[in-house]
Amino acid sequence: MAEPTVRLTDEQVAFLHEHGYLSLEQLSPPDEIAWMKGVYDRLFATRAGHAEGNHFDLAGSDDDQDQLNLPQILGPSRYAPELAETVLRANVARIAQQVLGAAAGVGGDHAILKPPSGGVPTPWHQDEAYWDPSLEYRSVSVWVPLQDAPVEAGCLHFVPGTHRLPVLPHHTIGHDPRVHALEIDPSDQYDLSTAVACPLPAGGATLHFSRTLHYAGPNHSPEPRRAFIIGFGLPAAKRSEPRSFWWNETKQTAREQRAREHRERQAQAAR
Ligand code: NI
Repeated sequence: MAEPTVRLTDEQVAFLHEHGYLSLEQLSPPDEIAWMKGVYDRLFATRAGHAEGNHFDLAGSDDDQDQLNLPQILGPSRYAPELAETVLRANVARIAQQVLGAAAGVGGDHAILKPPSGGVPTPWHQDEAYWDPSLEYRSVSVWVPLQDAPVEAGCLHFVPGTHRLPVLPHHTIGHDPRVHALEIDPSDQYDLSTAVACPLPAGGATLHFSRTLHYAGPNHSPEPRRAFIIGFGLPAAKRSEPRSFWWNETKQTAREQRAREHRERQAQAAR
């Protein structure tokens, strides 16, 4: 297991809790990032996870495999276990303890590839809007670009302080039930004009809580924008107060269909 190389200062931990996001110059060394880039590109080129519904178009109807607007892989370390042995992951594990205490652990990872020269933005959303509404979360996402991510390449933007909001109503992009990606409904509970852009060098990172409102612009650079995301958090507990994320219940995505078919194949093989 790799040894951690990064420790947050008390000021950085306090900034994250106060504003709901934090920007770090380096969380993974350059040689590791160069290596990860190769693994990452191979997973996308071979459509790892497609049959299981873990590789899909985040921002399109996902029914034309050659025209993905915003391809995503859920759990890339399932398909390349060496991605779980990195200095990056060791650093995330240490930061998790610093931010949320000894009970915090590293969670799942995912990969979002934003194709070069234009394309779509990732609309404003809270990550928790995608999750199980019956659980209470205390968790943070760590977003790591595998090449420089200036504003023009689609770095993340955050609205400071929005981590203290509840989960606000969302809808799928264009109100299209075939699309996986969510966008927050217009509301007077937040002010997008106060958003902060967080451009990063390759191997840098931003951290944000599960309710921090965030967005990424289109990628106007000539290179794909590769983002690798790792979560950390406390074990999710059952909520005492119920809530409904109705925007997920009406979705009918090709990804979910593939996942269902995969589960059925597995169940048949087990019989
Ligand atoms: Ni997000």
